[in-house]
Amino acid sequence: MTIHECLPLLLILSLVRYCLAATDESSSSSSSATCLPHSLRVPSTVVHRPHQLVIAHRGASYHLPEHTTAAYRLALELGADWIETDVVASSDGVLFCLHSVDLAVTSNVEEIFPDQTWYSPIFNRTGYWIFNFTADQIDQLTVQQRLSESRSTAFDRKMHIPRLEDALRVLKDWNTDDLPQRLPPLVGDNITTTTNARKPSSVDLARSGMYLEFKDYILQKEEAGIDLVDLLYHHMEQFSDLWKPLLEDQCYAVMRFDEYVVPGLVLQSFDVDALSRFHERWPLYFSDKLNESNSSLRISPEPPHVLLLNYHGCTGELGEEFWFHIGDSWRSFLSGIGCDKQCLFDNEEFGHKAESFKLVLHPWTERPEQTFLVDPERFPTVFEETRHLLCKVPAVHGIFSESVSIAVAVARMGCQDSEQIDGKGDPLSDTTKESTTCYGSSRQSVIFSGLLSFFLGSLMAVSISSCVHRRKMLRHYTGRTTVTSSDEEDCGNDAELT
Ligand SMILES: *[C@@H]1O[C@H](CO)[C@@H](O)[C@H](O)[C@H]1NC(C)=O
Ligand SMILES: *[C@@H]1O[C@H](CO)[C@@H](O)[C@H](O)[C@H]1NC(C)=O
Ligand SMILES: *[C@@H]1O[C@H](CO)[C@@H](O)[C@H](O)[C@H]1NC(C)=O
Ligand SMILES: *[C@@H]1O[C@H](CO)[C@@H](O)[C@H](O)[C@H]1NC(C)=O
Ligand SMILES: *[C@@H]1O[C@H](CO)[C@@H](O)[C@H](O)[C@H]1NC(C)=O
Repeated sequence: MTIHECLPLLLILSLVRYCLAATDESSSSSSSATCLPHSLRVPSTVVHRPHQLVIAHRGASYHLPEHTTAAYRLALELGADWIETDVVASSDGVLFCLHSVDLAVTSNVEEIFPDQTWYSPIFNRTGYWIFNFTADQIDQLTVQQRLSESRSTAFDRKMHIPRLEDALRVLKDWNTDDLPQRLPPLVGDNITTTTNARKPSSVDLARSGMYLEFKDYILQKEEAGIDLVDLLYHHMEQFSDLWKPLLEDQCYAVMRFDEYVVPGLVLQSFDVDALSRFHERWPLYFSDKLNESNSSLRISPEPPHVLLLNYHGCTGELGEEFWFHIGDSWRSFLSGIGCDKQCLFDNEEFGHKAESFKLVLHPWTERPEQTFLVDPERFPTVFEETRHLLCKVPAVHGIFSESVSIAVAVARMGCQDSEQIDGKGDPLSDTTKESTTCYGSSRQSVIFSGLLSFFLGSLMAVSISSCVHRRKMLRHYTGRTTVTSSDEEDCGNDAELT
């Protein structure tokens, strides 16, 4: 493909850029349209998908023990858009999906390996730390419900701790329409495939992806010399067949404006170091493979990064520091903030600030139990709380939920026009319907954005031609001929996210 053939595409992209630039320009005076980062926009026209994203926190962890393949699968069945996985590593560097680095919290490790405890200076306590167990040992453990007082324990000890590739297989099954769907295996059960487990045809279009969290990145690095980012890169190579669809989905997504556009993989962490390290390695990851030259151009667009933030970090001096860092350098590799939902109840400015940096907010965590509600006087149930966050708080375009079905129901109800604040809801239709806003409210901004879009368009032209070139090289190098997306999608996408 030559630049010539890319031209129509360029025109379209420039138009969109034009629109984004114009909104950018006008947003200081009026916030009537919000152009969010492409990478984390939420679908508007796919009927079964709500405008706001429901991310299943550790799977459908209200119903089943968290971080089990069954919980991931059930979350998808219940209508979650994306599943969230926490990733930690064994002593021999195998990635597992688990929330706590102390295995005793949700597994039966105390029974199986009663003596394998270790005093950790960083945690200042003794525990069954995952970095003191080999992958084979972890495979022998079973999981149980974390909040056993309020949730069912019926599925305790029936499932293992999944390795990261097991979670990817759940997604692969879900995203593949033609194959029989695999049911998650139970402990001691050999049969994992059944033709009765096809997904309902009404959700055939609902492809899903993963919010992957690097858990306790610094701790595992300092305590055990384990670098989760390096291990993830290694994993992506080792299980490239499972990763490829998730990474390529981004290409597919960004170019198809009428479909959902949240990429198949979103990375998140409380440790900004993990995200920045992943970000730095991304171009190298490809140039390692294409050793013909060292280019900073990316073959696939980089997965978006979401920085997680606890309540402590969003208040007072730490809060100010946080926004300083966002504006200073973090913004360059972040697409969103996953904050404690409490940050949004005390401080109305938080949402506006995120919006001004064009970051989406994905607060955590919706749980149906009364004790987890932030302000029960104003919002006495999880239904009301979720609705408030999704409809009223600026920049919130997704929510982490454990009672997935409730969040899905709330998101599907949509928001009343009267309760919906400016710029919320459907970011795509904001730019397409209200074209007057997109094309600028004053003559000056039209000229300004025109120039800007021309400039960006030219930039894209350069990126696209290089990207096509690189893609061809990759094909040549790996002998791949069955890339599912077209060149155009690769190009545009690459340019958009670079
Ligand atoms: C470690 O824990 C012990 C007992 O819980 C406590 O007395 C001590 O102050 C802690 N040390 C540090 C450095 O926090
Ligand atoms: C699993 O399969 C193996 C080999 O096919 C068999 O020996 C074993 O008994 C099976 N286990 C169960 C629980 O069915
Ligand atoms: C636990 O892991 C730490 C860090 O890798 C190591 O120093 C220690 O020897 C391990 N302890 C046991 C009992 O395996
Ligand atoms: C590039 O890759 C090829 C094939 O893997 C290898 O033989 C060659 O040594 C590499 N070159 C460099 C400079 O790394
Ligand atoms: C490629 O990158 C490596 C490491 O960053 C550097 O040492 C090397 O000189 C670079 N090669 C070229 C040809 O730029």
